[in-house]
Amino acid sequence: MTNILVLHGPNLNLLGTRERSIYGHVSLEAIDRELVAAAGEGVEIRTIQSNHEGKLIDEIHHGRMWADGILMNPGAFTHYSYAIRDAVAGVAIPTVEVHLSNVHSREAFRHRSVIAPVCIGQISGFGWRSYLLGLEGLLSYISENRTD
Ligand code: DQA
Repeated sequence: MTNILVLHGPNLNLLGTRERSIYGHVSLEAIDRELVAAAGEGVEIRTIQSNHEGKLIDEIHHGRMWADGILMNPGAFTHYSYAIRDAVAGVAIPTVEVHLSNVHSREAFRHRSVIAPVCIGQISGFGWRSYLLGLEGLLSYISENRTD
């Protein structure tokens, strides 16, 4: 069994109603359903959304007990949370950062991710499908790097 922690950061609970021209019409619940369907047998997905930095950090730490990989959209924390970056680096669980929007085509403050350097990769700009692409990359990485 491969266990994946999916973390959604601040304001992503508003997906489907929030700035639809940027983030689309799909709700967070629908994205979570798509991830579970895409994961298929042998992969367990646990999803958590929080608007609080500390909660996200606690979940990353807790992941040490059970998670083989983390798929994370840190929302605006992407651009300034050294604490989340340190948590990802500290637990050493392979992590993929995803964004619905193409952060590189938007405001300058979104061009920099302080978390991406400690991730195995970043997917940005494919709407809700960024999550599916990120999951695919993460699962491939985990299966290619398994030691057990
Ligand atoms: C986002 C991009 C961030 O810059 C922004 O703060 C978000 C959403 C995205 O998925 O495109 O909240 O992470």
